[in-house]
Amino acid sequence: MAARLRLGVNIDHVATVRNARGTAWPDPLRAALLAEAAGADGITAHLREDRRHIRDDDIDALMAGIGIPLNFECAATDEMQAIALKQQPHAICLVPEKREERTTEGGLDVAGDEARLARFIAPLREAGIRVSMFIGHEARQIEASARIGAAVVELHTGLYSELHAEGRSDEAEAELAALRRGAALAHSLGLEVHGGHGLTYDNVEPVAAIPQLVELNIGHFLIGEAIYRGLGPTIEEMRRRMDAARGLV
Ligand code: PXP
Repeated sequence: MAARLRLGVNIDHVATVRNARGTAWPDPLRAALLAEAAGADGITAHLREDRRHIRDDDIDALMAGIGIPLNFECAATDEMQAIALKQQPHAICLVPEKREERTTEGGLDVAGDEARLARFIAPLREAGIRVSMFIGHEARQIEASARIGAAVVELHTGLYSELHAEGRSDEAEAELAALRRGAALAHSLGLEVHGGHGLTYDNVEPVAAIPQLVELNIGHFLIGEAIYRGLGPTIEEMRRRMDAARGLV
């Protein structure tokens, strides 16, 4: 029987709503605890350089407060490396970051920055932090991630999600096929394979069915849907769909 996928819940946009008013609520830690109670396997939080949603004190609170692993998402900068080494999260996911972007656009260019990234992740690996690279499904990015000693690659599902939402089904199917090939290659190189970005109830199942994937990280849709259903039931429904894709329900 297929193994159950892990669900990492990204709580960044709870902080987006909080920061819109400069108040203390809604509190990302409270959301993380509700996610944990609803069966999330991990919490993901992206500390951006401009602190537009998650702030440093949120990372302190999450590290102290949650009982499931924290996946600390950040850019490969000296500042973020120092924070990761101080906080010692379970995992770090390195993402490209541009100030002007609305969300993480595209994957990290590991192949084009291989020597620097190898040096960057070495102390994190030595500290026992699992290092994940958020990349596209191109073979050269996957191979470079394996060469520098990353434990995990998270494959960017954003383009698939966009094509799916626009009803461009042939192109979405082609992108899904490329994600499948990428997942198989990464797995064959000994990498653990995750996926994420833009996933919703409507598009998650074909991704969740990719056999080499072990974890999906999902944020924006869940936080938005929680306005209507509440966070716990929203997460439980995503869990159910992920399990259904693997023939587990
Ligand atoms: N994985 C990574 C590496 C991300 O940067 C993001 C967005 O912060 C996600 C997953 C979650 O994407 P979404 O919010 O679209 O579900």
